[in-house]
Amino acid sequence: MSGRFYITTPIYYVNARPHLGHAYTTITADVACRFHTMRQQETLFLTGTDEHGDKIERAARKENMSPREYVDKISGLFRALWPELNISYDRFIRTTDPDHIKLVCRILQRIYDAGDIYFSEYEGKYCFGCERFYTDRELVDGKCPDHETEPEIIKESNYFFKMGKYRDWLMEHIRENPDFIRPERYKNEVLAFLREPLDDLCISRPKSRLQWGITLPFDDNYVTYVWFDALLNYISALGYPDHGDFEKFWPHAQHIVAKDILKPHGIYWPVMLKAAGIPVYQHLNVHGYWNVEQSKMSKSLGNVVEPLELKDKYGLEAFRFFLMRDMVFGLDSGFSEDALVQRINSDLANDLGNLFSRVIAMTHKYCKGIVPEADPRVEDELCGFQAGDLKGHAAALVDEYEKSMSAFAFHKGLLSVWEFISHMNKYVDTTAPWELAKKKSSRKELHAVLYHLLESLRIVSGLIWPVMPETAARMQGHLGLDPDAPFYHLETLRKWKVLEPGTKLPKSTQLFPRIDLKKLRTEAKTVAEEKPESGFLPEIDIETFAKTDLRVGTVLKAEAIPRARKLLKLEVDIGEIRTVVSGISGSYSPEELVGRQVILVANLKPVKIMGVLSRGMILAASGEKTISVAGPDKPVTPGTRLS
Ligand code: MSP
Repeated sequence: MSGRFYITTPIYYVNARPHLGHAYTTITADVACRFHTMRQQETLFLTGTDEHGDKIERAARKENMSPREYVDKISGLFRALWPELNISYDRFIRTTDPDHIKLVCRILQRIYDAGDIYFSEYEGKYCFGCERFYTDRELVDGKCPDHETEPEIIKESNYFFKMGKYRDWLMEHIRENPDFIRPERYKNEVLAFLREPLDDLCISRPKSRLQWGITLPFDDNYVTYVWFDALLNYISALGYPDHGDFEKFWPHAQHIVAKDILKPHGIYWPVMLKAAGIPVYQHLNVHGYWNVEQSKMSKSLGNVVEPLELKDKYGLEAFRFFLMRDMVFGLDSGFSEDALVQRINSDLANDLGNLFSRVIAMTHKYCKGIVPEADPRVEDELCGFQAGDLKGHAAALVDEYEKSMSAFAFHKGLLSVWEFISHMNKYVDTTAPWELAKKKSSRKELHAVLYHLLESLRIVSGLIWPVMPETAARMQGHLGLDPDAPFYHLETLRKWKVLEPGTKLPKSTQLFPRIDLKKLRTEAKTVAEEKPESGFLPEIDIETFAKTDLRVGTVLKAEAIPRARKLLKLEVDIGEIRTVVSGISGSYSPEELVGRQVILVANLKPVKIMGVLSRGMILAASGEKTISVAGPDKPVTPGTRLS
């Protein structure tokens, strides 16, 4: 099949490190792109980072960095993560790229010249977290639904985009193209929104309030609203208007986003394109949220899941498979490591892994590791009376898989492959090759059965390629095929008898080892106990905490301990004088500490360190390079208890 496919992810804000949610969207785009490669289409995969706006400016300030230094750093983290997850994007766009900035100015000027941007005074409710005004209708109990904070009233003059005027056109377009936004629930959500009057969109921010943005081409005192800037990345990355890639790929554009940014993509973006005289995209594919213990992942809740940790622990292929198999595209899904392990053990280790090693092992045992010839007459008979017609089933499977994958129903595509695997497992049990091997007269049947199984495994390896490319290539190698050939083309997977009888197969292999969850938990517990800084310690109740006697103390004397580079011996007044040994010498000289107030754990069991009996422990924060001693920020009577 010929044709083209242009897929984009949202460009991610650089105010936080990438997490599981970003990884999911980007892996999905990778899988979709690989699927279109299976169809032999010319593909282009775009991702990148969204680097302007208030959020970013504030995040940079918090890190004591200039916005430029800061965006370079975090954008680099995103860019470096994707290859680690075997994501083969073609282009990485940054909204601070000069070509992108040029394009944004060009489009703004075009829409302004066409009379669709006007200047007006506006008073409204502004959420700084979202960087936008909210109407009363959109607020929940008067609060921003995302940030759960009350917006601030802001009155200022700004530029507005006449979005309202395109409302009827957009409704019409969505109705005429029922899968413009999919799955359907999100199309309905956008239509419901459009049933209400569509307000014009404020597309500028005064420089007195925000400087980190693209200056409006028609007014130096303003920068562009971050969404107006960001959405245009999808065409600036194609070199619109002059580069041939725009003409080539834009008619095939498909976006992937999560439901959080449905409105900008389902409403602002098509309207912006229409106003600029550019055809709209082909499909907007919207997925749900990965939640952790029923809550949204967020830094403040401390439940952010790190993709690289999961990759290191469970292997990349299993991680990618879990994400694509467990989430029904469009719906929310709960993430848990238990569910991940369950999937690995049942679907990968058990169903696929065991079947694969069993079939290869039988080929070795009964056919000296050589792909047998299937006699066509026996084959026909087999189809008639054995456990199932693998050949017929495989052909139907490829069609079903193609239908699901092209509609972004990845879980369904995989499910149909696993139904086939389960069918193959039953086929092995029913045909019982070990019984056939006992009788000379069943030789032909045995060969036909094994050939059917090997061919079916070849097809399975091709179908799992978009999700688990490495495993697919390993399977090919073990089937005596070239793992570097495009074995995954649907055209090849629709063929039967690709495996050459007479091919010598390498010895059997284990594709996925089973994971022992109990053992893993014990190991994780030991690691957590040894390295509490890699996560939070287990919860304790208030009574347990109350057993810790924390006191304010004044350091009376401090001296180095001979032969101990990092240790200082302190005398601390906590209502009584305590001698304490503390490992802070690298960051503090003895003189610096005398007279200073510190926090002491007063009821810690005394220990002897370098011959000195230490009665208590000073609290300090150990950073990567330096240690900082904790203390009250106003003078306090020595011995005062902290509660
Ligand atoms: N910068 C904008 C997008 C501009 S696109 C022109 C933005 N950035 S973001 O960093 O907040 O990324 C949001 C996207 O990250 C979501 O739409 C989704 O693709 C992904 N996810 C973030 N958290 C997620 C989950 N918990 N679950 C699934 N995907 C999530 O919005």
